[in-house]
Amino acid sequence: MGIVGAGPAGLVLAHLLHLRGIDSVVLERHTREHIEKRVRAGVLEHGTVELLTAAGLGERLQRERLVHHGLELLFDGEGHRIPLTGLTGRNITVYGQHEVVKDLVAARLATGRPLHFAVSDVTLSGLTDRPTIRFDGETLDCDFVVGCDGFHGVSRPSVPAGALTVYERVYPYAWLGVLAETPPSSEELIYALHERGFALHSMRSPTVTRLYLQVRPDEPLDDWPDARIWDELGTRLARRDPAWSLTDGPILERSVAPMRSFVVDPMRYGRLFLAGDAAHIVPPTGAKGLNLAVADVKVLAEALDSFYATGEARLLDAYSATCLARVWRVQHFSWWMTSMLHRIDDDPFTLQLQLSQLRYTVSSRAAATSLAENYVGLPL
Ligand code: FAD
Ligand code: DHB
Repeated sequence: MGIVGAGPAGLVLAHLLHLRGIDSVVLERHTREHIEKRVRAGVLEHGTVELLTAAGLGERLQRERLVHHGLELLFDGEGHRIPLTGLTGRNITVYGQHEVVKDLVAARLATGRPLHFAVSDVTLSGLTDRPTIRFDGETLDCDFVVGCDGFHGVSRPSVPAGALTVYERVYPYAWLGVLAETPPSSEELIYALHERGFALHSMRSPTVTRLYLQVRPDEPLDDWPDARIWDELGTRLARRDPAWSLTDGPILERSVAPMRSFVVDPMRYGRLFLAGDAAHIVPPTGAKGLNLAVADVKVLAEALDSFYATGEARLLDAYSATCLARVWRVQHFSWWMTSMLHRIDDDPFTLQLQLSQLRYTVSSRAAATSLAENYVGLPL
């Protein structure tokens, strides 16, 4: 197996295949230092934690993770708790994606199986019969290639034009994300809709807070000095309760991420399988991207296992449809959360609809349960 990309999808797949005795080579274009420092997602679904733990990847995760049993929706200056565990019996875990990646890289290196960092010029050929990967002047002949190389990778563009149907929506806003060296101002995540736009309060540890602000998609980072970021966060996360305040501190990292929904169908071309962000992107409001990537490779590892054990391609042939059923559920949830919580065009009518939806979500048990079930994730 040739696996392009050492993000969560590629590394979890490599490990699941290792456990089944299936050989793979993982190729990553960045250095180990780079991928282990890249700050991204933070929320792991119940099923993702169970899968990582069952695969022997959960030792540090179980020790260091923050288990959350609820989240807060904040609007009109008031917070409303959604009791995730109370409504679903399941919880979520806060544990940085780069920590997951560190654990996965260590596990891969411990197996002694190949993982090449800083490779350049990866090209794919022979995808319909005898797949070959070329990189750095070397050639790798594979039974199958798995494109786990994210949205901007080389795998999806290697498929001939027209062979995949693309579904896409680009949103007219982005997230400015910051990591701050300051204790979280709340024990749980806060998703806020404010007249000035969306804000999210999350965390990484008892001393590190992760925060996001809705900004324009072309927002220059230079326009956001620390004082402006804290000011804006303070405004959007403010409550009528004067006892609550946002604690500020040194900003360790900042970046702007665009928001899009994207799906290709099928997630396969001949002997190339696409997994994770290479096949689909969700806007981050539902905290789903990493979890979807893990869900894809679980399906793929089981299908490959069955293929090598029996010679039967039934599960491999079902891979794309099996994954897309989950992908579209998650697409809908992520789009719904995003639409409910972001300001669009300063339109007062839309804002009233959003507030009405939020009031309904926090006051109806059925609506709150629907949010909670989707947020903690469908069983894997
Ligand atoms: P990636 O993590 O993108 O990995 C792809 C890898 O392939 C990379 O290491 C890349 O360097 C490598 N690569 C690319 N091209 C090549 C090439 N040509 N050759 C070799 N290697 C290549 N998801 C959640 O579940 N929960 C959250 O809370 C959450 N929050 C997010 C917040 C933000 C601000 C952002 C940006 C994303 C968030 N996500 C979240 C989404 C999540 O980070 C992604 O969905 C996840 O990283 C997907 O994993 P992946 O392995 O498919 O792709
Ligand atoms: C985080 C990211 C998300 O996209 C989200 O919805 C919740 C939390 C985070 O980085 O902590």
